[in-house]
Amino acid sequence: MNFLRGSGKELFNLSRFLLPVGLVSVLAVTLGVGWITQPDRLVRGYQPEQPVAYSHRLHAGSLRVPCRYCHTGAAKSRVAGIPPVEKCMNCHRVTRTEAPDIRRIHAVYGSGEPLRWARVHALPDHVFFDHRPHVNGGVACQTCHGEVESMQVVRQVMSMRMSNCLACHRDPEGARDPRGSIVAETGFAQGPEHCAACHR
Ligand code: HEC
Ligand code: HEC
Ligand code: HEC
Ligand code: HEC
Ligand code: HEC
Repeated sequence: MNFLRGSGKELFNLSRFLLPVGLVSVLAVTLGVGWITQPDRLVRGYQPEQPVAYSHRLHAGSLRVPCRYCHTGAAKSRVAGIPPVEKCMNCHRVTRTEAPDIRRIHAVYGSGEPLRWARVHALPDHVFFDHRPHVNGGVACQTCHGEVESMQVVRQVMSMRMSNCLACHRDPEGARDPRGSIVAETGFAQGPEHCAACHR
């Protein structure tokens, strides 16, 4: 009898306290892991270290070098393109040649090897993105990439989620634009929503 009563009490304790506590912890762990590994959270704010301390704030901000001077593909190809060291040499053959980072650029240039910058933005391979319709249509770089000209080190501002692309394609007016209204600036009513536009 005693034995039975004891185990009944333990069962009662188990269902009343341990089970709920256990379930809540399992739920918390599941949600926590989901939240941490959620691609959106991982990629937004992604800011890899670069091999040379190149600063957009200095070059595109203070010196006002136009974005497309370096990212020449933005209006004429799918990819905007990262400039070759040769482009840096246009100025750095004579500018700040004593600085350690500039010496490294000279060494890389002399070696004939490309400078391996760490990639910041990356859509999955199954997604088709093209800079041309966006850039030629007048969507500002900053609408998607944020105020790059004030970043010392580039960081990913836009979400690479399908829902983020679609949100602007459905309602461009809702998209951030440094100039105010994206629709007034571009005259776009909408972007494509059919699957084949982005999955080809
Ligand atoms: C003097 C050349 C130069 C100019 C001007 C310049 N960039 Fe860049 N940009 C680079 C280089 C080099 C990298 C690669 C290293 C890095 O990420 O900082 C880069 C990287 C980037 C990236 C990240 C690429 C990736 O890996 O995803 C973006 C976005 C970008 N630039 C946007 C801009 C915008 C917008 C402007 C104008 C406001 C601009 N850049 C002006 C040279 C330039
Ligand atoms: C509509 C949003 C959008 C606009 C506007 C836009 N970009 Fe991008 N950009 C992206 C996306 C998305 C990627 C990632 C593409 C991929 O991984 O295939 C990217 C990648 C890049 C990259 C790295 C890969 C590459 O294409 O070379 C650079 C550099 C870049 N953008 C620069 C620019 C510049 C400069 C402008 C303005 C002239 C600009 N972007 C305008 C969305 C945009
Ligand atoms: C239009 C001319 C121009 C171009 C193109 C240019 N730079 Fe510069 N850069 C400058 C000037 C000017 C300074 C020095 C600013 C100052 O300190 O007064 C500078 C400074 C730097 C510095 C800081 C050096 C130090 O430690 O003081 C680095 C690093 C650098 N540039 C890297 C690059 C890279 C990488 C590229 C190519 C993607 C590049 N620059 C392209 C003009 C340019
Ligand atoms: C800020 C608004 C905005 C964002 C963000 C945006 N787009 Fe677009 N996109 C447009 C507009 C507007 C058009 C229509 C351009 C036109 O009609 O010429 C367009 C057109 C396109 C096209 C059609 C290209 C063609 O040749 O028909 C593709 C593909 C595309 N976008 C992919 C994407 C992907 C993928 C993303 C997310 C990574 C994205 N877009 C994010 C505004 C945006
Ligand atoms: C404006 C561009 C765009 C359009 C239109 C679009 N997608 Fe996507 N899709 C994306 C991007 C960007 C991703 C990758 C990021 C992500 O998974 O959210 C993606 C990812 C996906 C994935 C993979 C999801 C995963 O978890 O890996 C599927 C499946 C998909 N899309 C189906 C569709 C279908 C079905 C349609 C039509 C109803 C469609 N997409 C229309 C941009 C688009």
